Amino acid sequence: MQAEDLYRKAFDAYLEENLKIREPENLYKPMIYIMKLGGKRIRPVLVLMAADIFGGDYRKALDAALAIEIFHNFSLVHDDIMDDAPLRRGEKTVHERWDINTGILSGDAMLINAYRLFENYQAETFRELAKLFSRTAIEVCEGQQYDIDFESRENVQVEEYLQMIDYKTAVLVGASLQMGAIVANASQDNQEKIYQFGRLLGMAFQLQDDYLDAFGNPDTFGKQVGGDIIENKKTYLYLKALEASEPKEAQHLEHLYSINPTDAQAKVEAVKTIFESSGSAAFVKQEIEDYTIRALEVLESLDIAPKEKEMLKRFGLELMNREV
Ligand code: IPE
Ligand code: IPE
Ligand code: MG
Ligand code: MG
Ligand code: MG
Repeated sequence: MQAEDLYRKAFDAYLEENLKIREPENLYKPMIYIMKLGGKRIRPVLVLMAADIFGGDYRKALDAALAIEIFHNFSLVHDDIMDDAPLRRGEKTVHERWDINTGILSGDAMLINAYRLFENYQAETFRELAKLFSRTAIEVCEGQQYDIDFESRENVQVEEYLQMIDYKTAVLVGASLQMGAIVANASQDNQEKIYQFGRLLGMAFQLQDDYLDAFGNPDTFGKQVGGDIIENKKTYLYLKALEASEPKEAQHLEHLYSINPTDAQAKVEAVKTIFESSGSAAFVKQEIEDYTIRALEVLESLDIAPKEKEMLKRFGLELMNREV
């Protein structure tokens, strides 16, 4: 078994032990529902992997891994409300299955439960983990707010988009790795580098998420394909397509992003055609590769054994080529 699968198995077993339905059921059932829908478990795997790589006992990082995954799932419950998303991991989103109020409150409780898990660590480790967590969680909120602001704002710049995805997604990937490093008492230098590695991978990860949102296979993707287009998300695909198109086509694209037709599918198809014909789709693929390569360069500078570097590298390359 690959180390990565071992971490995932250990994490899933720990999750199973720690998730119990309590009263009031309508608060706890949605939490368990979303957590057990699965998902790729990328962030908790990274927490455990980093702890192991820096010479710690990865089992000591299970609480930090659980905190990160609960936080991630909390952010998805609220994100799906904000994005009006019907599907998550192939099933109904929490607010569709229950209602919006349930999604809000269950999400709130998840955030608090996540934070609470750090109480299981000794004072100094607790302080470091909680500090990193709080900073990261606020950045995620800031990123999410920019994401929503950009839906209705004109003239969003590529640089602004990149900062938005850094905050909403990349910092949490970096923090996952750094948390593992903190539990393992890694040096400050290694902590900073592994954070930077994760952050660059996280940028590639969100660009790939945006790409798959338009071009993923609806049978396996688990989310509504075209959801970002329906919601007029100013993704890299959109911004680059505007940049690269002839004025007439760019105008057409802007027009498509200003309407909410009853036939959403026709809009999705028209926008996707422009994403491809403008070269934007290919451009995004290149950008994903570039961020991954930059991440791998940072990895080279880490003070760990080649075998460990290889594991992180393989993980990064797998993420780049993922289909879901
Ligand atoms: C989805 O994250 C939200 C983003 C930050 C892109 P994942 O793609 O990791 O979702 P799951 O947990 O595997 O479902
Ligand atoms: C989500 O970005 C980022 C967070 C949840 C913080 P998206 O809105 O692109 O994520 P998906 O595509 O719904 O998973
Ligand atoms: Mg979303
Ligand atoms: Mg969103
Ligand atoms: Mg997305």
